[in-house]
Amino acid sequence: MSARRVQIIGIGAGSPDHVTQQAISALGEVDVFLVADKGASKDELVALRRAICERFIPADHDYDFVTVPDPQRGADATRGTAAYEQGVADWHAARADAYARIIDGLPPQTVVGFLVWGDPAFYDSTIRIVDAVALRTPLDVRVVPGISAFQALAAAHGVVLHDVGQPVHITTGRRLLAEWRPDLGTVVVMLDGGLACREIVSVAPDLVIRWGAYVGMPQQQLRSGRLADVIEELVTLRAALRNEHGWVMDVYTLSTT
Ligand SMILES: C[S@@+](CC[C@H](N)C(=O)[O-])C[C@H]1O[C@@H](n2cnc3c(N)ncnc32)[C@H](O)[C@@H]1O
Repeated sequence: MSARRVQIIGIGAGSPDHVTQQAISALGEVDVFLVADKGASKDELVALRRAICERFIPADHDYDFVTVPDPQRGADATRGTAAYEQGVADWHAARADAYARIIDGLPPQTVVGFLVWGDPAFYDSTIRIVDAVALRTPLDVRVVPGISAFQALAAAHGVVLHDVGQPVHITTGRRLLAEWRPDLGTVVVMLDGGLACREIVSVAPDLVIRWGAYVGMPQQQLRSGRLADVIEELVTLRAALRNEHGWVMDVYTLSTT
């Protein structure tokens, strides 16, 4: 069996203006996009992906969207680290099985595409899942980078993320409290369901937070300031935005200047 072409395409963090020429070329090759069905709350994000395809794929190129039901995943918040990691591993295996079944059912020349929010290299499982699918059926995989949310955030605030020659630490809200220390350099926090930085205000009130929600999208909100001064406003604003739009995606940096 010859290997089937798969394009994993980073589409940027929500603005069609983030889509690169490399992504546009790859989009034009794809016959079938596989999309995980994450339920109604993410409908707007699926619609955005469709809008990107409609805008950038030539009208004479036919393509389909195939929705793949997402396997059930238990509640992460109540699990310890080992149970969480095992839960994620089981979920990835179930997803890989589902994708392999669908891919095997497609005609051999069909090019399969995955649209990845932001950049596929940051907090996205697609490359890992496709690697797992490739153990089940032969694939020829290409990855197209995209603009990540934290790059869009830095640009929106007009800043360099780190001091000269200094590091950047990219982490999740889940890990922030365990990892943060004063010499870490700038910390980028993604996937934070509830502004975990609130818990370090008492030890590091003078940190500067640069925050953004829906960065690059029409409803974009940006705030920055001394952590202790702005955190309560951010907590209130984040809850209000979530209420208004039904979902919220935000990202922030913590730094000393
Ligand atoms: C599953 S991760 C995907 C990250 C993506 N691969 C990237 O490179 O941006 C989702 C997280 O990315 C961040 N994010 C993605 N798009 C965003 C946006 N437009 N505005 C703010 N945060 C965003 C949020 O922290 C969100 O919780």
